[in-house]
Amino acid sequence: MTTAAPPPPAFLVDLPDEERHGLPTNFTQGKAGDPVLPDLFASLTGARITTPAAWRAIRRPELLDLLAAHQFGRTPDAAISAEHDVWDAGSPAFGGLAIRTQVEIKLSSDAGASTMNVVLYLPAAAVARSSGRVPVILRLLFSPVVIGVDDEGVREVDGWVTTGPDAPRRVAGRDARSLGRVDVAAFVTAGVGVALIYYGEIEPDFAGGAALGVRRVFASTAGPSERAPGDWGAIGAWAWGASRVLDWLQAQPGVDPDRIAIQGFSRLGKTALWAAAQDERFAAVIDCCSGEGGQSLSRREYGETIAHITAPSAFAYWFAPRFADYARNPEALPVDAHMLLAAIAPRPVLLINGETDAWADPYGAFLAARAASPAWTLLGGTGIEPAADFPSLDTSVGGDLRYFIHSGGHDAAPTDDAAILAFLREKLIDQ
Ligand code: GCU
Repeated sequence: MTTAAPPPPAFLVDLPDEERHGLPTNFTQGKAGDPVLPDLFASLTGARITTPAAWRAIRRPELLDLLAAHQFGRTPDAAISAEHDVWDAGSPAFGGLAIRTQVEIKLSSDAGASTMNVVLYLPAAAVARSSGRVPVILRLLFSPVVIGVDDEGVREVDGWVTTGPDAPRRVAGRDARSLGRVDVAAFVTAGVGVALIYYGEIEPDFAGGAALGVRRVFASTAGPSERAPGDWGAIGAWAWGASRVLDWLQAQPGVDPDRIAIQGFSRLGKTALWAAAQDERFAAVIDCCSGEGGQSLSRREYGETIAHITAPSAFAYWFAPRFADYARNPEALPVDAHMLLAAIAPRPVLLINGETDAWADPYGAFLAARAASPAWTLLGGTGIEPAADFPSLDTSVGGDLRYFIHSGGHDAAPTDDAAILAFLREKLIDQ
């Protein structure tokens, strides 16, 4: 017998319906439906998956294929060469707490080339001990790194303004939209390195961005209307770029190649999940507020749905064109958020949600995490116990797969960094 999920907590208050992207939007929990999810363990071969070996050999590859075919699109397999120009090596930063390295990564093929810049801060104290190899968290940023950290030494790369009049347009990095700063000092003090990349340098975030970022290296820069149903979208491109950063990070002295986590917020949380699902070298994931197409169930009729996210005024270009086919019938989608999460099991995953972030459906994310948890159990990890209550604000529930909900909305909250550091300490730093 399965244990029923705890009901949504009272602090997830119902809100009036609204129209968004020209579509009605439900913000009432009682009207969200009670979706039946695809079975995590029912293989397409007809077999029931009951062992870790069968999960690894059969089910995880199936999940990745399904997620690629129906949601994110296929990441092409092509010979891409990478050159690494480390032009800033070993500079002290943050009052000597960190040692900074900056690299320009050039990716190329016969089809084209694309470059991206990464800033890496390692804890100075750990680097000083020559045997020290530290864990690192790779954060995908919405802003050029020059305005994402308080460090004058960072190279300014161009940014993109993607909304408002005259958008999209290229601007100097310092003139791009600032979305808060990364507290690098707190992380390096805790013994974890921080690697930062601006997602707009992997590929600018608008429908025509494919022609300006890493997808041109694959010559797969077809516009949104020209793509085949299973072609990759921007999230696939950002995730691929993150893996190329990981290639470089793993080779850095002072970095423990087996303890590199990835973190992203919202669309970059969706990206972090898809990157880690595909690339097992990512040792852990921190996903903040990724919502629809990320950690929240697509089958729930609450907040943003597939219909909203693939609407012409929205973000169809993030996904495979086929994802839009499920706008009216999400129950036909062969995958859902619990399967995206399960493809990462048993690695540590911290899901952060916001109390008032109704658009991202925090309760739908809890249900997805709960439904994904048996994959952690099968593989010797811990998820959310069936009998576990929904956590109170600013607390978490779960183990290796953990769900945290902050006071506040679709934003980084004051309690996030402490929750992230506690999670990293337990799962990555003190290992
Ligand atoms: C929009 C979009 C979300 C996305 C968010 C973000 O709100 O609808 O799906 O997660 O942008 O990236 O901030």
